[in-house]
Amino acid sequence: MERAHRYDVIVVGAGGAGLMAARYAAQHPGVSVAVISKLYPTRSHTGAAQGGVGAALGNISEDSPEWHAFDTVKGGDYLTDQDVAITFAHEVIEAVYDMEHMGLPFSRTPEGKIAQRKFGGHTREHGKAAVERACYAADRTGHMILQTLYQQSIKDNVTFFNEFHVLDVLIEDGEARGVVAYELATGELHTFHAKATVIATGGFGRMFQVTSNAHALTGDLTSIVYRRGIPIEDPEFFQFHPTGLYRIGVLLTEGARGEGGILRNSEGERFMERYAPTIKDLAPRDMVSRAMYLEVREGRGVGPDKDHVLLDLTHIDAAIIEERLPDITEFARIYLGVDPIKEPVPVQPTAHYAMGGIPTTIDTNVILDGASTVVPGLYAAGEVACASLHGANRLGTNSLGDLLVFGRRAGMHAAAYAATASYPELPGAPQERARELIASARAGSGKEKVGRLRKELQRSMMDNASVFRTAQTLEEQVAKVRELKERYRHITVEDAGSQYNTELMEALELGFLLDNAEQLTNAALNRTESRGAHSREDFKERDDANWLKHSLVYKDGDGVRIDYKPVSLGTYEPKPRVY
Ligand code: FUM
Repeated sequence: MERAHRYDVIVVGAGGAGLMAARYAAQHPGVSVAVISKLYPTRSHTGAAQGGVGAALGNISEDSPEWHAFDTVKGGDYLTDQDVAITFAHEVIEAVYDMEHMGLPFSRTPEGKIAQRKFGGHTREHGKAAVERACYAADRTGHMILQTLYQQSIKDNVTFFNEFHVLDVLIEDGEARGVVAYELATGELHTFHAKATVIATGGFGRMFQVTSNAHALTGDLTSIVYRRGIPIEDPEFFQFHPTGLYRIGVLLTEGARGEGGILRNSEGERFMERYAPTIKDLAPRDMVSRAMYLEVREGRGVGPDKDHVLLDLTHIDAAIIEERLPDITEFARIYLGVDPIKEPVPVQPTAHYAMGGIPTTIDTNVILDGASTVVPGLYAAGEVACASLHGANRLGTNSLGDLLVFGRRAGMHAAAYAATASYPELPGAPQERARELIASARAGSGKEKVGRLRKELQRSMMDNASVFRTAQTLEEQVAKVRELKERYRHITVEDAGSQYNTELMEALELGFLLDNAEQLTNAALNRTESRGAHSREDFKERDDANWLKHSLVYKDGDGVRIDYKPVSLGTYEPKPRVY
């Protein structure tokens, strides 16, 4: 028997963007809202976000949304759509106060205002000096956002379907009609018929060996909609956060450098002074990650393998570390046995954030092409989406800002659409594609193992498509992904059971990851310039004459087709990035 449900608005994903969308959709009178999540909501990856949400409140020193917009555009190496950055920098201020009014326990200044600290690339007066813009709750800001929004969604009577994996988005005649999901507890497929569908499922960092991303971040929906003919925008731009715990990749917040932490090489040198003389360790992430790689490459790495650098917090008052950075202090103690109060912490760049994703308008409508043709009834927000805010390199803290601002926009626009639309007709056999997907994962000979293929993908992506790239490494990686996709046909799922079949879900997730890797590597090979997080050693310069445009990667048979979308420019003329 087919299980079927009907809601005006379906939200896929229960992280910050999904919960914000659900909450705001649920405020719309008469609109029914359900959230479908492959995790229990409070386990969503937003909970791992640490350092803060950037908003120009000016609580510590003078700030302005215009400076925030400029930093976002410059940080994004001018690939950011400037109208989006300006709207965002204003709305994120409202969003932070909104969260405060919902009860989010922000850290406070002595006079009781929301506390703010410095972060990478946050400056006053267009780059003159660092500014305190990150509003934080110790180093648990994402955790607090998630808990606060979950409580509010419960209050707003949002219905939750937890541990349901979405396996298909129903798109017929260019219009979204709902989703099909697999219930982990029972193995049953459910059809969710909806007037409006919001996708808010986060990123795909698990394609890399060293990542700050949770195991769940396998890019399921960026693959599913790609298979349905929707392009993925700018997938070549993947951010490496400079301070992952050595070898493990667990995030150590940039807030640590905001509180005065310093990166040092094997000579004890504060090397960022050479790369970014004005804001040093607080330069944007792409620049700091590259600097760390170069230090290692030039023989100034630390440790027996000379393959990492150190984050030094030992000069900071221990009471400040314990109060403002308690979680990362514990992570260093637990995972590496290093006490940051007494000794520097080994760190290396960690795969952190997809700047690209499902392309949307500023109102979060999913679009099909460079002319911004909208897919009626389909919305996306948060890391899974690309509203063209982050350009080629996201500014630290703009991820939490993005999910609040665009999560809210998605909820409001999806609900307004659903309030006037009637239910679209469901396709005749809505579960057919999901059934085929499951059947094909079970049908292989079993001569290939999911775990081995995933490891090969992660290692090779790290070697060939991470912080530095060349045509040679990218060609190798495009071929490697093709090979892995071919070998993936020969996997099988040994667990034939229907209850909690996590082996089956892991197999499907690997298939999704391979699609995401195909998008990233092909777009990276195609873009013959260096911009933001996409650093080509064979094309070292930014090339605005040819490449000041967004990539749109479409699935085309067993390969890809790449098209483009113009960047929305404005008052900020593209200039060389100097910090
Ligand atoms: O460093 C951090 O706390 C991460 C923040 C972000 O990705 O924006």
